[in-house]
Amino acid sequence: MPDKLARVAVLVSGGGSNLQALLDAKQRGELPVEFVLVLSSRGDAKALERAEARSVPTEIVERRAFDDEAGFQSRVLQLLESVRPDVICLAGYMRKLSPEIIARFRGRILNIHPALLPKFGGPGMYGHHVHAAVLAAKEKESGCTVHMVDEEFDHGPILAQATVPVQADDSIETLAERVLKQEHRLYRLVLKEFCEKLNVGKS
Ligand code: GRF
Repeated sequence: MPDKLARVAVLVSGGGSNLQALLDAKQRGELPVEFVLVLSSRGDAKALERAEARSVPTEIVERRAFDDEAGFQSRVLQLLESVRPDVICLAGYMRKLSPEIIARFRGRILNIHPALLPKFGGPGMYGHHVHAAVLAAKEKESGCTVHMVDEEFDHGPILAQATVPVQADDSIETLAERVLKQEHRLYRLVLKEFCEKLNVGKS
């Protein structure tokens, strides 16, 4: 057993089912991490309840509470620095990270995207827009991608992907559900492997 757990901060904006999958994996003893912060860009995110239910510290940082983007971003940076994360997981976080945040934690920020990047990524490709585009393009398969975060949307190096078939009678909802199931499996596996490679806690 490592004597020190990887410190993980999770950034969210919505439902938080990916966060839940990570919390559950930790509870089952499958993820040797300590969740040090769940930061939400929305005060009404269900993800906050999920974090609180597992006694993970939460913070809400809403853009509208700040005069400008710079003020918002520096508050996010300040909160992240205060918890000294080894890894930052974006899990449905709907704001772009500032270049300062990315530079400060370069190589330690992960994101999950509900498609097989580099296809169906970039600005505007989020939530159901992604699955609608996959169906419109008549793709035979879709899936999800865990990748490192850099300055461009959905662009950094790919760490892992999982694929699912696209079925002839799929709706946006049925495809989204199939992909989401894989997201929950993939994110915890990649995070575990990533933390092991970080060498946190190895004496
Ligand atoms: C997921 O589909 C994820 O890939 C994307 O945003 C969605 C978040 O869902 N980045 P949830 O909040 O984890 O349920």
